[in-house]
Amino acid sequence: LVPPATLFGESRRNSEGYDLSDDKTLARIENGRKSLAPLQATPLTVGEATGGAVDLRNPATGEVIGSVVQADQDCVARAMSDAAIWDAPVTERAAILRKAADLYERDFGVIFALLAREAGKTQLDAVGELREAVDFLRYYAGEAERRPDALPLGRVTAISPWNFPLAIFTGQIAAALAMGNAVLAKPAEQTPLIAAHAVALLHEAGVPRSALQLLPGDGPTVGAALTSDPRIDGVVFTGSTETAKRIQRAMAKNLTPGAPLIAETGGLNAMIVDSTALPEQAVRDIVASAFQSAGQRCSALRCLYVQEDIAPALIEMIKGAMDELAVGDPWELATDVGPVIDREAKTQIDAYVAGRSAQVLHRLKAPNAGTFVAPTLIEVAGIEELEREIFGPVLHVATYKARDLDKVIDAINATGYGLTFGLHTRIDDRVQQVCDRLHVGNLYVNRNQIGAIVGSQPFGGEGLSGTGPKAGGPCYLDRFATPQGPQVAG
Ligand code: NAD
Ligand code: ALA
Repeated sequence: LVPPATLFGESRRNSEGYDLSDDKTLARIENGRKSLAPLQATPLTVGEATGGAVDLRNPATGEVIGSVVQADQDCVARAMSDAAIWDAPVTERAAILRKAADLYERDFGVIFALLAREAGKTQLDAVGELREAVDFLRYYAGEAERRPDALPLGRVTAISPWNFPLAIFTGQIAAALAMGNAVLAKPAEQTPLIAAHAVALLHEAGVPRSALQLLPGDGPTVGAALTSDPRIDGVVFTGSTETAKRIQRAMAKNLTPGAPLIAETGGLNAMIVDSTALPEQAVRDIVASAFQSAGQRCSALRCLYVQEDIAPALIEMIKGAMDELAVGDPWELATDVGPVIDREAKTQIDAYVAGRSAQVLHRLKAPNAGTFVAPTLIEVAGIEELEREIFGPVLHVATYKARDLDKVIDAINATGYGLTFGLHTRIDDRVQQVCDRLHVGNLYVNRNQIGAIVGSQPFGGEGLSGTGPKAGGPCYLDRFATPQGPQVAG
């Protein structure tokens, strides 16, 4: 295989063997390709429930790749009574989670094919996602061993989104299991096949079935049942801010007071590029932050502020870099931008762009088949024009005067969100000025603002973007245990 001509080929990793310019990784990708054929020939089914069967489609082609039998209220009730905390010594639980990480790596090919076909992940995204999932398993295993005396909460509901159907799904489960909880996991409606494969690997590694149960189904029925049953002792949720608010209300009415809600939600993420920035580096980081994963990252850049002195030149460079993006089949190595998750998402994003057609500065072409959305650059006066998170490849750009920097930061704070933020500058004092004033979970200086690394860049937001603690960080597991004072040993 020829290494891909991708704009996003930067390598940052914890685990070995995840570098797209590395022969070992390319050999693993080739394995994934081989596993594609049998998957295509045999559509997959997941679920033993009595609810209805729903077809699952490849977002890049529209073809049916499998189906899911949804869980229903009866399944939730059964799962609730079958659930039992994982009563094994922490060293045993940690060893099993580490074994699961090894099994994820063993099954790279199948996982890779599922990520591409069920979630439309490009090869780079799939590699990053597998790495993150494996890192979560190993990291939380180690963190649990630092808390040998911690006691589990009990039954924990884990509700995850489709945009990281392996990494976030696994991260939530691994954290809860590491502390000995019984997990009831509901994946997103769009991605149950990946979830089912992950759960099968965790069971194969030795996680008891009573400690981990999969309940595929939709949010308003299965999700709502799993977050309002008084037998639930805690909820870990990643998804939109609107759904998090709904869950919080359901928990407030039904659950034991004090049952934690760990919510990681949306963002209206900004970046500021001042006139001292290195333009070539800034452009590369802007394009990666806005368009990698087809903009379907909570961390993605939504509103770019460019200092007016350099704005005309920088915007021309951004348009040029956008023109280099290959939009198309996620199974092609050279593809930079794959499809958005489904028809509904495409319709919403396209309608949003159509409503702002007078402000469009640049728009690429996208394939007609499937659910592709053309990467788009839209001019705005400021972030206050963005009423909500547009979860796709749409970047807004505004200009600002140097003397107005504080006003820009205040406008970003005023959105109420605070997930990621990027700053390109070569002035130390400016970094400090922004750090002191901005309310944000993850602030990145002179680099892109996506792809936080488990263990070294704990990830999570403030305000409407999340409750904390940060995923992949040293405090995360404490929320999955009963609060009995400091638990970390050593
Ligand atoms: P979503 O809120 O629509 O769905 C997320 C999950 O919640 C799904 O499993 C869904 O079935 C479930 N759900 C929906 N209604 C529910 C209800 N009433 N009760 C219980 N569960 C319910 O979000 P999405 O479209 O799947 O994901 C995209 C969103 O997730 C974006 O807003 C993105 O910013 C956010 N996100 C945040 C992070 C983070 O770490 N902060 C990471 C990834 C995605
Ligand atoms: N953790 C993911 C990122 O940083 C969402 O992009």
